[in-house]
Parts: sequence; C-alpha cells; structure tokens
Amino acid sequence: MPDIDQTTDIVDAVTGSRRLRRNRRFDWSRRLVQEHTLTANDFILPVFVVEGENASEPIKAMPGVERHSIDRLIDIVKEARDLGIPAIAPFPNVDVSLRDRTGSEITNPDNLICKTVRAIKAAVPDIGIITDAALDPFTDHGHDGVLRDGIIVNDESVAQIVEGALRQAEAGADIIAPSDMMDGRIGAIRQALDGAGFNDVAIMSYTAKYASAFYGPYREAIGTDGLLQGDKKTYYIDPANSNDAMREAELDINEGADMLMVKPGMPYLDIVRRMKDEFQMPVYAYQVSGEYTMIESAAANGFIDGERVMMESLLAFKRAGADGILSYHALRAARLLAR
Ligand code: PBG
Repeated sequence: MPDIDQTTDIVDAVTGSRRLRRNRRFDWSRRLVQEHTLTANDFILPVFVVEGENASEPIKAMPGVERHSIDRLIDIVKEARDLGIPAIAPFPNVDVSLRDRTGSEITNPDNLICKTVRAIKAAVPDIGIITDAALDPFTDHGHDGVLRDGIIVNDESVAQIVEGALRQAEAGADIIAPSDMMDGRIGAIRQALDGAGFNDVAIMSYTAKYASAFYGPYREAIGTDGLLQGDKKTYYIDPANSNDAMREAELDINEGADMLMVKPGMPYLDIVRRMKDEFQMPVYAYQVSGEYTMIESAAANGFIDGERVMMESLLAFKRAGADGILSYHALRAARLLAR
C-alpha cells in the first residue's frame, strides 16, 4: 500500500526518513516489536482469610475483594493454580480478642495463618505459599512491631517476628516475606530457619516498604483500620527517598534474602528499576490495596476502562524490571490472559 500521506516533504525535512510509526502500523508488527509481555507466571495473588466456615465478607474499600473462610479460600487457590499463577500470599483477619500489645498470637502454631497454610498445602500442594511475618494482624495497636512507651522496639519485635516465621515454616510456608521493616530481621529469620532445618524455605524481603497512604483499604481488610495508633514513619521508608531503598536492599541481600520487593507499586516504579539494575536479584512489586481501589472505583464510575487500565498497570511493572507482581487483580488478569 503506497503512503497515503502526500505531503511528506515537511516532515522528512526534519526526520530524514526515520519514522517510528512504521512498526506500529499493524497488529502483527506491533506484536513483533513488543519488548515485554505479561503472563500468569508473573502474578502472586494476595488473599484475605477469616475464621469460620462457608463464610465470605466483602471489603468495602476494596470492591470485588472478599475475606474468605479457609474452606472457601481453597476454591480460589485452586482456580489460581489452574490459571498458572505460581503463588499466593494469604493475610489473616484475626479475631480482635486475640490481639495484644506484643502480637503474641503470631507465635501460636494454630493461629489463623498457620491453619490456612496447612489447609492450602494439603489441598493445593502445587502452588507456592508466601506468608507475611509482620505483627500487625496480631497487635491491638495495628503496628508491625512491639509497642513500648510509644516506640516500636526493634530487637524485641525481631524476636517475635522470628517466632512467627518459624511457626509459618512449620505449617508449610514456602517463602517467608516479612513486611515489618525492622532492622536485622532478614538475617535473624535466616539464621532461625536454618537452625530449625528449614534451609530450603526462602525469604522474600519487603525490602523497600514505604510509609504510604496507599495501604488504606488493606487496613479494613485485616481489621486494623480502627486500631492503628499514629503512623509507621519510624520504620517504613520516607516516600521522598530512593537511596534508603538501595541501602535496605544491600543489607537484605547480605543477610540472606532470596528475593526483594518494592511496595507500593505503581508510584514507585523508579525504585523497582533502580533495584533491578543495581542488584540483579529477583525483584517483585506489590500493587497495593489503594492502587487496586483507585482503578476499581474509577472503573465503577465509568471514568476509565477498568480492564484495560488493569492490564496496562500490570505490564508497566514488567517494563520497570519487576520479575513478578503481587496484585489483587491477579485472578482477573490471569482469567483474561487465558482467554
Ligand atoms: C503490614 C502490611 C500492610 C500491607 C501488607 N502487609 C499494611 C501496612 O504495612 O500498613 C499492605 C498491603 C496493601 O495495602 O495491599 N505489614
């Protein structure tokens, strides 16, 4: 087909004959030059679990996401497995009566998260299970560590987190993913896991976890929204900083992390890229609750095409260098990709 644009002189005088639109002309040529692709292999599905049977509770601030009892969760995990999603990340909504100052329920081998891990391992053995060893679902103040005199005390928190990680490994977790940002927790968890014979249990560090307002809806999901006192600025990274994230990565790698994570996701793609370039480690991004909710609520209002924005946002993580994405959209995106 000849060029239908007759007045080529004006543009060619500037570009010579370089025209980038040639490669974009056809669907086949666009596919041929595509640098990045999204597959189900890229996803980790975070899920929420509650006590009970045959129970599902909607999460108001996360339209389309529910907390499920373990029996119902199994069906979702099976679908994720069938769609080719490699791993899930369960988070517990723990009964308020079990929460205390130090988050001691995390050390209970029969706590909700350990029961969930055992049940999933038994029913769906061929999907990876990634558990968070942070204390926030278990404390009555919603912080990720032990609170003493208004301070989140580091080393006592690490000791408690290590106990939690051990219980999770005993229950069958494949990857421990501490999200608390206490100093030294990766090394302490590694040492404890190895000491208990869990040499093959991996650690995915929430390496660059920012003090972000994008976690808002998650607090409702695990029931810390009414509990959280103050903020998490004394232990999470300041959103103004990028070097801090690299220093955290260096420490985590030296302490034995197998995988690194950046969280939140889309507002922090520069951190994902920098981490990937500087450390050549497996790097994951967490597209967090607030990001999910922004897309879903804009879509529900008809302001954006939710499905296309969802897929575009997920692909952006790949372009930024992420090896995988934790996303509440994972199931829907994987269903779309399977079509
Ligand atoms: C707690 C934790 C949070 C998330 C995962 N683990 C919230 C927080 O740190 O305050 C956020 C997940 C999300 O917003 O989707 N350690």
